[in-house]
Amino acid sequence: MADLEGLKSRYASLSRDVLKLAQGGRRVLVVTHIDADGLCSGSTVFESLKRKGANVALRTLPDLDPKAILALEAQKYDFHIFTDLGSTLLDALEAALDGRFVVIDHHQLAPQDLDRRSVVNAWTFGYDGGREACSSSMAYFFATATDPSNQDLAPLAVVGALADRQDSGQGRSLTGLNRAALEEAQSLGLVSASKDLMFTGRQTRPIHEAVALTSTPFLRGLTGNKDAVLAALHHSGLVLKDGGIWRTISSLAPDEKMKLTEVVASMAGQAEGATDAIASLVGEVYNLELEDPFTPLRDAREFGTLLNSCGRMGAAGTGVSICLGDRNEALKSAMKVLSEYRTGINRALESLASDAARTETRGSLVLVKGEGVVDERLLGPVISILSSTQAYRNKVIVGFATSRESDLKVSSRVGDAYSGDVDLGLLMRESAESVSGVGGGHAMAAGAKIPSSMAEAFSKAVLERVPA
Ligand code: C5P
Repeated sequence: MADLEGLKSRYASLSRDVLKLAQGGRRVLVVTHIDADGLCSGSTVFESLKRKGANVALRTLPDLDPKAILALEAQKYDFHIFTDLGSTLLDALEAALDGRFVVIDHHQLAPQDLDRRSVVNAWTFGYDGGREACSSSMAYFFATATDPSNQDLAPLAVVGALADRQDSGQGRSLTGLNRAALEEAQSLGLVSASKDLMFTGRQTRPIHEAVALTSTPFLRGLTGNKDAVLAALHHSGLVLKDGGIWRTISSLAPDEKMKLTEVVASMAGQAEGATDAIASLVGEVYNLELEDPFTPLRDAREFGTLLNSCGRMGAAGTGVSICLGDRNEALKSAMKVLSEYRTGINRALESLASDAARTETRGSLVLVKGEGVVDERLLGPVISILSSTQAYRNKVIVGFATSRESDLKVSSRVGDAYSGDVDLGLLMRESAESVSGVGGGHAMAAGAKIPSSMAEAFSKAVLERVPA
């Protein structure tokens, strides 16, 4: 049972303690993950303390591991708030920072850790941290506990939830704690929700570009192929320009949207699953009402993609600046990063598609060997996109990329048409630990880091645990 009141009461005492420390001149460090949910949650906690005059700094990390914890300890901050990371490392954190930290998170927690004082985790309060609560919505309720006026930060909770693909309610809607934050944002007129076609760039791009930019679901023959889309749309008779200016998908009338869907469906082919993939393009869309309508920040999903690209491409600081309100230099530079990110992902997908030996299907498991062709920073999004393709929507997909320090990075996803029962967070943790690696995450999306010599043993461990 979800317990929002319990969470609020926990935050009331936590925020009192943190503010007492911070306003007394003690140095507080917020440490957060580099993905969009990490950037939104870290920025939310940071901003809420900053507004109270706290002596607070913010740091982003790609991963938290025992080495990173020791490096943090050496900096002698008086208190640390970890967002979107730390739930699986409570023992190491306690050993290094005993009494000087708290973790605000939504990743799976070992059952014996649910009630530890050093962690405020979605699962403890009855929320499914994979679907109903992200770190950003967890951070949002911390922020409003420090001061109710922090409600203006609610759009970041919506962005973080969508970027973590938690739109798993009916019609791709947000539920649970994410919905509670969304409703606060709606009541202030900051975010509006409606039903629409969810093509990327639906409000900002010419129609053919928006279709070609959409990669989740992956539309075979359309994704990344704007010339082919343009030719098909011309042929369909859909009016693409208005007074010489390209129209956008959101400006189309309902019957025109229907026509567009038909064209896309016929282009995507009759292959099994194509109809489902097209159907999954209709859903709840979230507009950030105070953002410029001609930027990707207006659509909460695109905002999330922009932040994810910053985090993955080594520009986490730029992402934080955007979360904190910079709409000038940071936005310009993030747009460039986003374009490089998309190019990198397309290149990786092409390399994988052109070499059949890189993909191996074993029953309901697909292994993708991206070593040497997929940048480890792009492995997660590449595997996510593959899991939305018609070929793999009913599979569990596990991908590998070379990581620095002679390791392999592993990313895993469950396709939305998979009918088996698997918990990837557990699967990655157990399989990685069996080969001296580390792993974890959520039921539908998880990852690991293993020694590169252990790839075969790791794959075997995964196979043993995935029902055929
Ligand atoms: O890197 P990737 O996008 O594949 O990660 C998927 C999810 O698994 C993320 O939420 C990430 O935080 C989590 N993860 C984890 N522990 C790891 C690797 C990934 O919790 N060692």
